[in-house]
Amino acid sequence: MDSPAVALPDGDRMPVVGFGTGGLHGDELGDAVSTALEAGYTRFDTAEGYGNENALGDALADADRSELFLTSKVLPSNLDYESLIGACEASLDRLGTDYLDLYLIHWPNPAVSLRESLDAMATLRDRGLVRNVGVSNFSAYQLSCAQHVSDVPIAVNQIEFHPWHQQPDVVEYCEESGVVVDAAAPLARTQVFDDDMIRELAATYDRSPGQIVLKWALERGATVIPQSTDPGHVRENATLFDWELSADDCRRIDERDRSRSVYNLAPTDWSNETFGIAR
Ligand SMILES: NC(=O)c1ccc[n+]([C@@H]2O[C@H](COP(=O)([O-])OP(=O)(O)OC[C@H]3O[C@@H](n4cnc5c(N)ncnc54)[C@H](OP(=O)(O)O)[C@@H]3O)[C@@H](O)[C@H]2O)c1
Repeated sequence: MDSPAVALPDGDRMPVVGFGTGGLHGDELGDAVSTALEAGYTRFDTAEGYGNENALGDALADADRSELFLTSKVLPSNLDYESLIGACEASLDRLGTDYLDLYLIHWPNPAVSLRESLDAMATLRDRGLVRNVGVSNFSAYQLSCAQHVSDVPIAVNQIEFHPWHQQPDVVEYCEESGVVVDAAAPLARTQVFDDDMIRELAATYDRSPGQIVLKWALERGATVIPQSTDPGHVRENATLFDWELSADDCRRIDERDRSRSVYNLAPTDWSNETFGIAR
């Protein structure tokens, strides 16, 4: 795969297809990442909350760092200034690299000043530890607040985005304000493959349901980070650039939205480890 790339505000280019590593650990992650590298993926998405940065660092150790685009995310419990700086340094250490191409606030945390978190992000960028800054799971309102108080451009909002959960208000705001929508769980963890329309289009185009869903997301201007441990799936998820999905069929998929989230569980449990509000 030679993935096209999208330009971020300061000129860096982010491949539109990346490899998601959420839920992968140890040898399973190592094997999947090796397959992904062989298939031509150069963008890898992780987070301190995934507990797999060490394994990802090991799996990428022989790759040319300058050819890679690495994203990690800071937990919402680490968003005060000092904790955020420390969290980034620890992620870099675990990944065995000097810098992240993109560093995201994993989830908003209303108990911590967004200005403080983004000041820390600006410091990280000034120090060269982070090339681009972004957020994840932010609503349009939360994103607009972030933009108001940030000294650095918010390059990306990584949100759940697939045919059954299209979040048009957030996507529209991102488009208007030049923020890239990075589609998390772009395959809806396979749930969307039950959609008759997706199956019908897969048969029509002689493609897999996964390819139809990912191609639609790209056509809608999002970037995608599918996760897979199946070598055939890893490869097919990257085979998206030598065929077309018609505008009419994209519109038919637009109509499948049912606001069905696979991971954005409401209400968020603010007492658990991932979302916990540090005292
Ligand atoms: N920012 C956030 O809060 C957030 C939240 C969720 C996810 N993410 C990111 O987004 C990435 C992807 O999301 P996800 O892992 O939750 O879900 P996903 O990519 O939507 O779905 C992964 C599932 O789809 C299957 N699959 C992959 N390709 C397939 C294909 N071509 N045909 C059939 N099945 C296929 C995989 O199983 P096989 O192994 O059998 O292929 C796996 O079970 C994560 O790894 C993470 O990096 C971010």
